[in-house]
Amino acid sequence: MTASDTTWHDVAALDDLPEGDVVEREVAGRPIALYRLSDGVFATDATCTHGNASLCGGFVEDDVSIECPLHQGRFDIRSGRALCAPLEADLAIHPVRVEAGRVRVGIAAA
Ligand code: FES
Repeated sequence: MTASDTTWHDVAALDDLPEGDVVEREVAGRPIALYRLSDGVFATDATCTHGNASLCGGFVEDDVSIECPLHQGRFDIRSGRALCAPLEADLAIHPVRVEAGRVRVGIAAA
């Protein structure tokens, strides 16, 4: 992937993202989860790879992972890596830029 394959979308004001929590935004027609952690803002797909559950209804744990509300699978927020059963597939992550108090998410071309 090259930088030109990525489209940047303005998704939120930084001040609108609660620290240590997750919120959902629709970006380029897909649900995206935004997390404000101690070292910055991160973005992943919002839908669990195990079933049709929104991770935005789950819990951010220890500034590291997101727990799915349906079967309690956990993903590493920064890498998207599936950390435990019943998850078998990792979660897509998306690059984030914070500029002048605005949060932008990069979505790769399909
Ligand atoms: Fe997320 Fe099953 S739907 S762990």
